[in-house]
Amino acid sequence: MKALILSGGKGTRLYPLTYTRAKQLMPVANKPVIVRVIEAIQQAGVVDIGVVVGHTAPEIMDTLKDGSAWGVKISYIPQESPDGLAHAVKISESFIGDSSFVMFLGDNVIQGGISPLIRDFEHNAWNSQIVLKEVPNPTAYGVAKLRADGSIEQLIEKPANPPSNFALVGIYMFDSTIFKAVNSIQPSKRGEYEITDAIQWLIENGYSVYPHVHEGWWIDTGKPIDMLEANALVLEELTPSIDPTAFIDETSQVDSRVTVQAHARIVNSVVRGPAIIGEHSLVENSYVAPFTSIYHHTTLRNCEVERCIILEESLISDIDTVLRDSLIGRKVVVQRGNTRPHGLKLNLGDHSNVLI
Ligand code: TTP
Repeated sequence: MKALILSGGKGTRLYPLTYTRAKQLMPVANKPVIVRVIEAIQQAGVVDIGVVVGHTAPEIMDTLKDGSAWGVKISYIPQESPDGLAHAVKISESFIGDSSFVMFLGDNVIQGGISPLIRDFEHNAWNSQIVLKEVPNPTAYGVAKLRADGSIEQLIEKPANPPSNFALVGIYMFDSTIFKAVNSIQPSKRGEYEITDAIQWLIENGYSVYPHVHEGWWIDTGKPIDMLEANALVLEELTPSIDPTAFIDETSQVDSRVTVQAHARIVNSVVRGPAIIGEHSLVENSYVAPFTSIYHHTTLRNCEVERCIILEESLISDIDTVLRDSLIGRKVVVQRGNTRPHGLKLNLGDHSNVLI
């Protein structure tokens, strides 16, 4: 068994953050999403992992290296342009060979790991197994139509009249027949080789495709709101800890569901969990409300933040409104200016989004 993680793509829905960082490296509870994916694969006993990379290859490779930090062996598969999920499979044929494999989208976060899926596929002689999740609003997703024997009959993208409530999660099991499929299909109207078309090809050519229903939560971190939601869900499950090198002064209140990482300092502040304060960050005269992740080397001074992700080396200071539901990038400065005339002075990159 091998694994394929898709970590190319464009990441347009997370602009402007993804102008300068791969979306798979965005941290959820201070750990990059793709690292969570690798840990889930490793915990299921799969160690031979191919990572499909696009224009952000250098920073993905620089972070993951050969995978030995997580007890896995990583091979990189360059994708020249983001021509679709099935295209990513197509270019991975020589890495996969005739092995079975699990394919995991590198920007998805799921609860509870993938060991049950891997065991399910290993114990059945199916050609493919697709992870599905029951959702209340299937019209927003790719949806599976099931046959009476439980196999998948059809996959329909954002159906007006959904045949079921089972949406496609970004995790798939394949045997090597998928290469026949990806080499037989044509690009869709939007110009991409669609994985749903490849799976439909398997079904129409008599191969067996079965579902695996995922019971826990699942988040595709495509948009900022999804990142914040994934962050909240992961923080809820994090076992809190205070690093021995962290400093919390006597006037601060840090509740029991807070993780404080190495060399972080909390001074005259209140931090309510679940929350995480990253390495070498400083929280001073501030209030950090639940579901907030402060990444490393960031400073919060005289401010209040709630349900935010604030990335490394940023400075938030002297703000008199609560910063809420916000995703703040690297080396960002948000502070009160003392010069007249007062007013907002904004220096924002393309696709920035400010709600006042
Ligand atoms: P998507 O979220 O579907 O696409 P995207 O990353 O281009 O994002 P956006 O829609 O915001 O522009 O991709 C799902 C995952 O698959 C993600 O980790 C990127 C990866 N991917 C590839 O590796 N190659 C591809 O050709 C595509 C389309 C996606």
